[in-house]
Amino acid sequence: EWTTRSVIEEQVELIREQIGDGSAICGLSGGVDSAVAAALVQRAIGERLTCVYVNHGLMRKNESEEIEKAFGASTGGAKLVMVDAEERFLTALAGITDPEEKRKTIGREFIRVFEQAQEDILREQGVVAGTGDDAHAEAKAFLVQGTLYPDVVESGGGDGTSNIKSHHNVGGLPDDLQFELVEPLRALFKDEVRAVGTELGLPDEIVHRQPFPGPGLGIRIIGEVTKERLDVLREADAIVRAELTAAGLDRSIWQCPVVLLADVRSVGVQGDHRTYGHPVVLRPVTSEDAMTADWAKVPYDVLSRISNRITNEVREINRVTLDITSKPPGTIEWE
Ligand code: XMP
Repeated sequence: EWTTRSVIEEQVELIREQIGDGSAICGLSGGVDSAVAAALVQRAIGERLTCVYVNHGLMRKNESEEIEKAFGASTGGAKLVMVDAEERFLTALAGITDPEEKRKTIGREFIRVFEQAQEDILREQGVVAGTGDDAHAEAKAFLVQGTLYPDVVESGGGDGTSNIKSHHNVGGLPDDLQFELVEPLRALFKDEVRAVGTELGLPDEIVHRQPFPGPGLGIRIIGEVTKERLDVLREADAIVRAELTAAGLDRSIWQCPVVLLADVRSVGVQGDHRTYGHPVVLRPVTSEDAMTADWAKVPYDVLSRISNRITNEVREINRVTLDITSKPPGTIEWE
């Protein structure tokens, strides 16, 4: 029989068996999945867990700061290392427009950063890194990820399903991965993960946080990802989030990606001036588990405020559009 308590007990036991007296690092994204995964592992191996938060430069406005603040409460005081890798990710993404290539590039860079973090931790702990085969035997490295069942299915890891998109932490992993993965949520859906999080005592602001994809705004810019484009999208996205929150819609909407059509321009007029700017797409959806979704019927007055504010406050954007496609046939994210 499935109860949150039995899931917790079972997973803690399995994690202990898997990691033994080793240590692990956990990639923390600020979302509920990685926070719950970290909390479970923390329960299983305590101090031997180090959480690593990677700022890849693809986060939303002020998000890294907020995550650093909220973190203490979220994992029962596990160690946290913050890594600033903005330049590394933006360099790796330069020139890439294909969605799967973006996802795989981001997945690979995450792993490279985790490898570096793991090395730093071992050096700090004074574990002498040997050479050749010895080094690996000594330093068996475990990486905790908050992978959910739907991530596995959509990445083509489920039985007989084809690849829809490579989630950064599943199909987007590099072939030469040295880590042994610890994925205690791999059989769960989001609502179950939230229940486990609540049972583990995580705060509501984390448990009920709307999903945000690991590849971040990188898969919400249609076209090449650049710092300038990210800054534009960050401004528009911040307005959308603020207005949806002010309207009290955070719990009824599953999430609302804001997508920048960076290679598209259209003619507009502002004051007496012609503009030639970019459109953004609002993608508010309702969903139970992200496997299917419907477009959310956001009230017209809220949409209207969002549209006015974005076109007034973000110079580069002169058109706001609404995506009214369900999933299927659309997916939630555009890439
Ligand atoms: P799609 O676009 O497949 O998205 O309908 C389903 C849910 O998954 C999130 N998503 C991701 N989350 N890494 C993540 O951590 C990823 O690579 C990724 N791709 C999509 C998306 O935001 C939605 O909630």
